[in-house]
Amino acid sequence: KMANTSKDNFPKNIGIIMDGNGRWALKNSFKISEGHKKGVEVVREIVEESVKLNIESLNLYAFSSENWQRPKAEINAIKKLVIDAINAQVPELKEKKVQLKFFGHTEDFGEKIINKIEYAELETFTKDKNMNLNVALSYGGQQDILDIIRGVSKNILEGKMKVEDIKQETVNQFSCAPVDNLDLLIRTGGDKRVSNFMLYQIAYAEIMFIDKYWPDFSSDEYKKCLNNFTKVSRRFGKRI
Ligand code: IPE
Ligand code: IPE
Ligand code: MG
Repeated sequence: KMANTSKDNFPKNIGIIMDGNGRWALKNSFKISEGHKKGVEVVREIVEESVKLNIESLNLYAFSSENWQRPKAEINAIKKLVIDAINAQVPELKEKKVQLKFFGHTEDFGEKIINKIEYAELETFTKDKNMNLNVALSYGGQQDILDIIRGVSKNILEGKMKVEDIKQETVNQFSCAPVDNLDLLIRTGGDKRVSNFMLYQIAYAEIMFIDKYWPDFSSDEYKKCLNNFTKVSRRFGKRI
């Protein structure tokens, strides 16, 4: 494993709500799908920068449970982009030892994408990874909480667990989220909301809202966010 050269007070687990692809496309008189396409290019740049900065995990919100309510044509364009992005980026991720994982109800995307995801996760699996790249697909924080309750309830009914055994770790164990806590959550696109992303895991996250649309976000903007993070006093409720 690479020596950790990053500052001690750097965030380990970062989440990004990559918002603004549609408005970026409209602003530039492009089709909406062009906005998503440009968005994928920015993902590549931010992943590369994150590896350089020794970030432990980057957790990207790519498609929410609620995004199924969008027009069929847009959803199909996104599906195609997911496949193209995996094909194009897996070799590079493998070379950089970035382990790719998808979380959420990925099965909603159908067999073709399920197979691609499986290939991407197997292909990038490594024992000496430099970073985890976790991509949320058909993910909702509230839906995850329901799944956690269902999972725990089932185990209790089957006598595998007792009510008194439910701990914070139990929640983490039953959650589909790949990390227990986010240190930093960035949302681009100007809106100040979390739109159902990792609700349980953002309990003590520093949240940064950036006005730029995701396709206009860059590694320079990203480094500014990280630099601001290092200046924050994280007290976790303590008197320090
Ligand atoms: C975020 O960009 C990407 C997805 C939700 C898939 P949007 O498509 O939401 O962009 P805006 O918010 O409409 O500009
Ligand atoms: C959040 O963006 C979801 C993703 C970035 C994948 P949305 O565009 O779906 O969120 P709202 O509708 O503005 O809250
Ligand atoms: Mg949006």
